[in-house]
Amino acid sequence: MKRLQRNLTSWLKVLSLSLTFGSFPKHLNAHTTPKIENTSETISSGLWTAINSQLMLTDWAFQRQTAWQIQEWLFTPQAKTPQLPLWQEWFDRDDLKHIFFDLYGNLSSKARRERQVFPPATIESAIERFVSHRSPQSESLLRAQILAQNPRLTHILINRQALRTLLLHYAELDQCYRLPDTETCPSWVFPEGSAWLKSAWRRFGQDFTIPGFSTDASDFLRQQSSPSWMSDHTLDPQKLDVFTLSQSSEVKFALVGLHLMLKRSHDWLWTSLWLDQSKHQGFAADAPSSRFLSQYRLCSVLGFQSPLQVSSVPEQHPLKALADTLHQLDNPQWCSNPYLELGPNNQKTQCVGCHQFAGQNQTQADLAQLLQKDPDALIRESSDQGPTDFVWSLVKGPQPFALSITEGIEYFDAYDPYP
Ligand code: HEC
Repeated sequence: MKRLQRNLTSWLKVLSLSLTFGSFPKHLNAHTTPKIENTSETISSGLWTAINSQLMLTDWAFQRQTAWQIQEWLFTPQAKTPQLPLWQEWFDRDDLKHIFFDLYGNLSSKARRERQVFPPATIESAIERFVSHRSPQSESLLRAQILAQNPRLTHILINRQALRTLLLHYAELDQCYRLPDTETCPSWVFPEGSAWLKSAWRRFGQDFTIPGFSTDASDFLRQQSSPSWMSDHTLDPQKLDVFTLSQSSEVKFALVGLHLMLKRSHDWLWTSLWLDQSKHQGFAADAPSSRFLSQYRLCSVLGFQSPLQVSSVPEQHPLKALADTLHQLDNPQWCSNPYLELGPNNQKTQCVGCHQFAGQNQTQADLAQLLQKDPDALIRESSDQGPTDFVWSLVKGPQPFALSITEGIEYFDAYDPYP
């Protein structure tokens, strides 16, 4: 009986795949995802105007100032949990799985077989239901603890706009994940306002110390000619006034690095924060005065557009010398994070050069090999870009978000409780 059920299930799977395959759009334009404005995540219209402005492509100082403002927005305390910044309430792969399970489980089994699209309002109430039940404080602490223990592990979060896009297009995502060669997936396009984020944590206090990476002034060029990011000092926990999560006064975790990709109207803005000891120095000389941010350094990059004008940085700007240094590099769009870009030559990269291949068949090992042998290939613009709109973790990598959907679908395919 069990075997029959299994056979039937796999047959149904094949049938449902072939049934829906015909409707697979050639170019999946997720711009059609409705934007719901009334969440606490909404970026002010003034900041959106800055983010989409033409100046972002030409004026380095302006791009950095806007990136700092985005970081300030990311660190806005939440009404319900004021001790947590906005992004700590975003969603990971498990959250997506739970919300999808709820939505998909509430469809009739016929609707499930037809992979019926969820109405946007239904998606919104499922997200709200999920949010009202969870405890972001304890979840965030647990994640920080795991990430601090294993610096090679990554944990990825998405905002609501990205989440609702994945839920709305769940059937396409599942199909794409099941393709033998995901490179043949239709190109995916995330709508404006979508965001993906990756964070790095270290335990500190007692006997735990945090390695520091100098990037200010001449140290920056020294780092560039090193084999990889080199730690050259230890951060003093007494002097750290940064974002931390703590279990008790002895067990504390500091946020040491944060990557963000935020979709503008047609491309992504990439920005990254990393911790260092002194405030308002080097890549933090133009930091806002908000309490936590001034101790982090920041870099940002926007595609392969014409290199930012060094002449646009005024003589008296605190970052003039660093801007000049960047323009002497072969890679003036440089942006890399010592706590997140591990491995040989990864301190020379910029985000987009590597992410342009997202969705292709490269594994982490392939990327590491490319970094070692031909790092330029991960810096230059390629004519052969991947299908997933620069997002690695959609259908590939150690934690593909599509898998959360496919696992939910497979569960109901195999054990549909209320046929
Ligand atoms: C050498 C390649 C490489 C470089 C350079 C790189 N990344 Fe990534 N990034 C990856 C890979 C691979 C993943 C997915 C695997 C993981 O980390 O879990 C990823 C994941 C991410 C994610 C989560 C969404 C996704 O695409 O999976 C964000 C956000 C991110 N990176 C931002 C950045 C930023 C910002 C920079 C530049 C400061 C950057 N990355 C530089 C390879 C790279």
